[in-house]
Amino acid sequence: MSMKQLSLLTLGFFFISPGNIISANPSAAGKEIIVYKDKSAKVEDRVNDLLGRMTLEEKVMQLNQYVVGWNDNENNIGVTPSEIPLTLGSLIYMPEDAGLRNEIQDNVLKKSRLGIPLIFGYDVIHGFRTIFPIPLAQACSWNPQLVENSCKIAAQEAKQSGVDWTFSPMLDIARDPRWGRVAEGYGEDPYAAGVYGAAAVRGYQGECLSGKFSIAACLKHFVGYGASEAGRDYVYSEISGQSLWDTYLPPFKAALSAGAVTVMSAFNDISGTPASANSYILNHVLRDTWGFNGFVVSDWNAIAQLINQGMAPDLKTASKLSLNAGVDMDMIAHGYDTYLKELVDEGKVSMKTIDEAVKRILRVKFMLGLFENPFTESVPSTERFLTSGNRAAATKMAEESMVLLKNNGLLPLKSDFKRIAVMGPLAKNGDDLLGCWSGHGVASDVKQLFECIEAEFGKYCSVKYARGCDFDGADKSGFTEALNLARASDVVIMCMGEKRSWSGENNSRACVSLPDVQKELIKLMAGAGKKVVLVLANGRPLVLDGIEDKVDAILDIWHPGTDGAPAMAGILSGRVNPSGRLAVTFPLSQGQIPIYYNRRSPARTGVQGRYTDMSSEPMYPFGYGLSYSEFEYGNLTSSAKAVKLDGRFRVEVSVTNVSAVDGMETVFWFIQDPYNLITRPMKELKHFEKRMIRSGETQKFVFDIDVDRDLSFVDSYGKKSIEEGMVYIIVKDKRIGIELVKD
Ligand code: GLC
Repeated sequence: MSMKQLSLLTLGFFFISPGNIISANPSAAGKEIIVYKDKSAKVEDRVNDLLGRMTLEEKVMQLNQYVVGWNDNENNIGVTPSEIPLTLGSLIYMPEDAGLRNEIQDNVLKKSRLGIPLIFGYDVIHGFRTIFPIPLAQACSWNPQLVENSCKIAAQEAKQSGVDWTFSPMLDIARDPRWGRVAEGYGEDPYAAGVYGAAAVRGYQGECLSGKFSIAACLKHFVGYGASEAGRDYVYSEISGQSLWDTYLPPFKAALSAGAVTVMSAFNDISGTPASANSYILNHVLRDTWGFNGFVVSDWNAIAQLINQGMAPDLKTASKLSLNAGVDMDMIAHGYDTYLKELVDEGKVSMKTIDEAVKRILRVKFMLGLFENPFTESVPSTERFLTSGNRAAATKMAEESMVLLKNNGLLPLKSDFKRIAVMGPLAKNGDDLLGCWSGHGVASDVKQLFECIEAEFGKYCSVKYARGCDFDGADKSGFTEALNLARASDVVIMCMGEKRSWSGENNSRACVSLPDVQKELIKLMAGAGKKVVLVLANGRPLVLDGIEDKVDAILDIWHPGTDGAPAMAGILSGRVNPSGRLAVTFPLSQGQIPIYYNRRSPARTGVQGRYTDMSSEPMYPFGYGLSYSEFEYGNLTSSAKAVKLDGRFRVEVSVTNVSAVDGMETVFWFIQDPYNLITRPMKELKHFEKRMIRSGETQKFVFDIDVDRDLSFVDSYGKKSIEEGMVYIIVKDKRIGIELVKD
């Protein structure tokens, strides 16, 4: 004991606890307050004070997460509070209300020695009970404020239901639509994914993490999971140092800058070192380079999966590798609770490593205010969920997420259409519109496409329904009824697409076209000589081979959630002017995959190197989408022709709405650096802005460029650099050159 400590001890500021000296501040009333229980104390002091009081067993248990609630998951430990270990760190919370949470928390706080509250996590991916469009759809809105608001609403419903922490946003850059999880991310562009990820973090965590409706965000899956080989799930991902730093890491860095306090390590094997035992990404990048001091939770059972991946012969070794690599919390693999004490006793894991992991978790618990507010106030579900405001926000998000892919003038439907036929497996369907990872979404909450079309047009049209076909299979027994209805109608609205179960985790599909039975029904309707609108509800980019040229209009509504149908109906009627633009490329053919916009320039130009059997261009490129308005772009102007490597300059463009319809337009600002010692993509998105432009109005859009921030590039070690020479700023088909000079 040092002299300072000894003197303080005699003054009563310290007292001995198992193995540590702990500080305690006297309260004004002279009663001793234990620092970690003192809400006025600094978080770090509370963390250190509490850590110093903990036994090794208590520390180890903080590093574990189990599952609780009424569901059939084999890892579930049921619903009896007394069965929950009193020193457990976290639970994945499956119930829809806070009752069980409060019971469990109360038991822990009353019976455990130190009263460390649990943190309750859940997959609030695009809503809790009010379900928003899937994240890939949200990314097509180019409206980060709407994304932030959607996450804010999701956080309110989750927090009031007993959830402190969401395993969201998912920031995996995905360029392979065969991968089912493309639905959960924000598309193919690193910059856009970072903007949306930061918006989601702000929405979830609010101004203050201990806020009434704030929940902790979790950036996942760290890192490179979207590069899963051939779109299969849980597999190897070949990721060079260059693409790690210029493509897969940037969204996480942007979202961390917004204050995210947790990260989830991924399933994939990153070029030979699985993410959940990868010290380079978890310690070197996340902590040593980016200064992250929150905690890392593994993905579901990912520690045990190191055995399958050929990195560890057993769970004990896997646990050692994961903890030493920087995974702080074990999600249900039961490696840490089983082996960490042994590993410490054997000197294979240091107490320092254990302590660092425990401190990160305690830090987030203190920041969340769990020690002061460990319980959830009971609020009736009718006041928590599906309020008119929440549903209106979900509809607004859907309106701006939907993408008009084709329109030969049919839309918006004119009032002279008096007989509308509505058909397809998604016309009278609630469940599948929810999409994957739909939390506590309930099918009966979902406004259905047929009912909303009827509501939108029924006042002056007859709106009739025929199912036509199922999602897949060979049953064509509904074709005749559908054909007869089509023949008796003026226009056919076909609600086709994917089941919600066809995308999301463990839902890779080797074929990303619509099933044959759907394609045949579409061709049959097209052959009936009627105008056909194809409404697509999907969780991934689809190949529309053989049908794109058969229909008059295509509106991609994605899986739009509980309140997307009114948005769809509004676009068909013209009440809503579509403003969505693709955040992910739609291939012309499956054989083109992977295909994305920010590719590098080939060694040969022109037609050399391109497919000899079909076009090498996609069906619909990144950023594509139609509007009922028409916008004309002026030329780009720049505040400077030459700029220093540490300089700034402004580029402007005027955009005019030359149509009679007010509409929202997104201006995408790309940069191009054609010559660089490290080759760069042919163009890179670095800014975007969406605005309403009234009919006849001209607005000026501006990109204030900071050369270091917006034009630099990284090498395979993450080191930023910028070279002299010409760079170009690109908007639409306009381009302006700027010379970067040393001085
Ligand atoms: C799953 C997913 C992950 C999710 C976690 C908890 O396997 O990979 O995204 O958050 O387990 O459900």
